[in-house]
Amino acid sequence: MEEERLSRLWLVRGMADPESITVSTPEEMLSLGGMFGRNLFGGAVIGLEGPMGAGKTTLVRGIANGMSIQDGYAVTSPTFTLLQKYPCLYRDLYHLDLYRISGTGDLESTGYRETMDPDSVLVIEWVDREPAALPARHLLVGMDYDNESRGVVFQARGGKYTELVSRSLAAYDKLKNTSTHGNP
Ligand SMILES: Nc1ncnc2c1ncn2[C@@H]1O[C@H](COP(=O)(O)OP(=O)(O)O)[C@@H](O)[C@H]1O
Ligand SMILES: [Mg+2]
Repeated sequence: MEEERLSRLWLVRGMADPESITVSTPEEMLSLGGMFGRNLFGGAVIGLEGPMGAGKTTLVRGIANGMSIQDGYAVTSPTFTLLQKYPCLYRDLYHLDLYRISGTGDLESTGYRETMDPDSVLVIEWVDREPAALPARHLLVGMDYDNESRGVVFQARGGKYTELVSRSLAAYDKLKNTSTHGNP
């Protein structure tokens, strides 16, 4: 239900045809992120919005796993650093967490613009605090919850992002079905 509420909210904001799913556990959220991490292309930018506890950082953790984050690194919610770099197997993952952002000057001084290059992936958590941080082409992910389950909606802005969403959701679906009805 929170998934429907979210996509309705997005429709009101003029976002056409958002794809939405329900995610029931933190493990599923990690798997979902994992499927995006595996299908991500260099230069991708993803914005995450939604209230505290919706599962944004958990999704980033899944993305990092899917990108094969290097040993010794872990996705965290740092108190003072807005921008974190996680070296992964093929490209680097940058995690910009705008929870504690105080102004546009703050945003620019993170150096996040330089991370938008073909060898990196940038995920911006709490992007609703500074929507202007997103380039014209991006993937916006909205998250919300009531009780345990989370509603997640995807809005692709740009052709490559549409394909990213459809591939990743198809892979996630397949994974879920095999783990529920799979090998005895
Ligand atoms: N379905 C779910 N998806 C993601 N997280 C969940 C889910 N159910 C419970 N959780 C828990 O909720 C918390 C979400 O935290 P987090 O990912 O840090 O959210 P945010 O970054 O949006 O504030 C974690 O403790 C996580 O284990
Ligand atoms: Mg967080």
